[in-house]
Amino acid sequence: MRSPDILIKNAKIVNYNAITQGDILVSGNKIKLIGNNLNVSHAHIIDAQGKYVIPGGIDTHVHFALPTFAGVTADDFLTGSHAAIWGGTTGVIDFVTPIKGQSLIEAFLQRRAEASDALVNVFFHVSPVEWTGNTAQEMAILIKDYGIRSFKVYMAYKKSIGIDDQTLINVLLTAKKLDALTIVHCENDEIIEYLRDSFYSAGHTDPLYHPLSRPDEAEADAISRLGMYAKILDVPVYAVHVSTEKGINIIKQRQREGVQFYAETCPQYLTFTDEVYDAPFEQAAKYVMSPPLRKEHDRQALWEALQDGTVSTIGTDHCSFTNEQKAMGKNDFRRIPNGAGGVEHRLEILYTLGVASGKITMQQFVSLTSYNAAQIFGLKGKGMIKEGYDADIVIWNPEGRRIISTQNHKMNADNNIYEGIEVIGQAETVILNGRIVKDAGQLFV
Ligand code: URP
Ligand code: ZN
Repeated sequence: MRSPDILIKNAKIVNYNAITQGDILVSGNKIKLIGNNLNVSHAHIIDAQGKYVIPGGIDTHVHFALPTFAGVTADDFLTGSHAAIWGGTTGVIDFVTPIKGQSLIEAFLQRRAEASDALVNVFFHVSPVEWTGNTAQEMAILIKDYGIRSFKVYMAYKKSIGIDDQTLINVLLTAKKLDALTIVHCENDEIIEYLRDSFYSAGHTDPLYHPLSRPDEAEADAISRLGMYAKILDVPVYAVHVSTEKGINIIKQRQREGVQFYAETCPQYLTFTDEVYDAPFEQAAKYVMSPPLRKEHDRQALWEALQDGTVSTIGTDHCSFTNEQKAMGKNDFRRIPNGAGGVEHRLEILYTLGVASGKITMQQFVSLTSYNAAQIFGLKGKGMIKEGYDADIVIWNPEGRRIISTQNHKMNADNNIYEGIEVIGQAETVILNGRIVKDAGQLFV
């Protein structure tokens, strides 16, 4: 059934390139008209006086319902959608990860079916985990027939889904031919595996050894190699979840040389440092993720990289586990499932630590949370408040406040890395494909 038209009055509309004042008419699933003093008799009216109206957030990096050695992750596409909407995110990009021997297309169709109960817009990055005689053709079919725009490869995790550099080169060259983007998890697998096993053999089993076994040099080495391939092969690349100052400096240098090198970081790397690992198991284990949390100078460098545009996108790498799942690594940090939830908090964390503290502007906030993602991943009709664009809209209350807590979050895990943090700014009303899905503290889904 078609939802009623919505008229947003007195909107302070924030796009990446301008802040303007006006009224917005939503009709069907589109932004139909933007103007001054609009009057539409039949529309549902929302007064946005004193609030910002921004494009619905796009999270470039989530793992919902991810099968792992510790079982499936805590958030499936339904609970993940609830959490996303609550925080002002109307679109997510998840991953298709085939098992070796499976065709990329079969894996994509399977994953798309798994995502069928999602309430937000879901897009996919597809991961070649090996190079076979069919991979290039399958990549072409995914683009042509299924609208895939990006392929993700892992330089880490070589025992399972990671690839060697020859495969990386094959993917880069094929993606270039197909006008697609290769996105890369950059960590040197060999040194990490060596360190993990050495620490464990020496009797070091605590979560503290997780960051120690994944040093910043391991990220920098992989980013450096990726930058070298991107330059020599003349291909665009995108590094996911960049966490280190060393990595940022390499990317910055390559960008100066004219390499199309995009970078994503995550709210957790902008919020915490590795001090969180110096804590009792249950507390420390929830921060075990890859790459790990880093030093204060890394955190600062990431903020500067947002300010100067080196980093274009913020993805959460949402990958949530329950305390019971995390406890699998109680006696062996290598067995703690990697990842944490965050899809709900991306906008409020970035607004609190970024906009409210004066580090970034409202326009940068919008670029980082939606516009750049739409541009980089070719999400047509997304990322702007503009006539003809999709009606994925957030009315953002800059005065909203809440204390993040496992007790009231919408995510499904019984822990939250942001527990106790008071955030400023709130997605007060969320419109998704032209329908109000959150308003006045209630979900309508
Ligand atoms: O620790 C993390 N990030 N888990 C999710 C998988 C990945 O590496 O992105
Ligand atoms: Zn990830």
